[in-house]
Amino acid sequence: MKILITAGPTREPLDPVRYLTNRSSGKMGYALAEAARDRGHEVTLISGPVSLPMPEGLTMVKVETARQMYEAVSSHLSGQDTAIFSAAVADYRPVARAEQKIKKTGETLTLTLEKTEDILGSARGVFGFTGYLVGFAAETERLLEHAHDKLARKGCDLVIANDVSQVGIGFDSTENEVTLCLPDASPFPLPRQSKAALARELIAFITQQAALKKTL
Ligand code: PMT
Repeated sequence: MKILITAGPTREPLDPVRYLTNRSSGKMGYALAEAARDRGHEVTLISGPVSLPMPEGLTMVKVETARQMYEAVSSHLSGQDTAIFSAAVADYRPVARAEQKIKKTGETLTLTLEKTEDILGSARGVFGFTGYLVGFAAETERLLEHAHDKLARKGCDLVIANDVSQVGIGFDSTENEVTLCLPDASPFPLPRQSKAALARELIAFITQQAALKKTL
């Protein structure tokens, strides 16, 4: 199968030396990419800035901002059988990037932010993707409610719900614990385990479901 995976954070520049970002390390997305590659799939990994070694045996596209990730997905999504969006993309970016370093003048500084492109939300309607679509939902409250909402609103076949309020899982950890949310099925929790082991389990499940979808 041809599988596209997004991973890592994005960086949204404020001025030449500062940016807005989040705590994603890329470990979950890279583990998925490596697990898919190891099962013989053709993988395209679109990654935000991370400090992980570059995996071999797959197509790597490096980006920084949400807009760049959107453009990279837009140009690589066609022809993919499965797309897995594990990146922690910024939802907002500064409206303007200052040309020069912002100086410390006042007691407070107000930033004006604008929405970024919703990459997962564009997969079906804008990019016309008809393959097996997997989103993540990183939540700190009402995990399954938010995950099911994303499943329906974004046209996903599967949403992987990740409770990022728990210590030791989620962002920048070596382990993770997630619940699979599928349309018309009860949520299916997977046990806490290393991201590498979880990725192997997820890729086995996703590719089986994707193959099933193809035959329908
Ligand atoms: O990178 P690690 O340190 O290993 O951490 C892993 C992880 C916690 C980042 C990962 O398991 C995870 O939960 N990824 C999703 C992070 C996220 O930002 O979720 P969200 O609920 O904000 O976004 C929902 C979905 O929309 C995600 O599939 C996201 O990739 C996608 N999205 C979000 C915003 C945007 N502008 N475009 C998108 O495509």
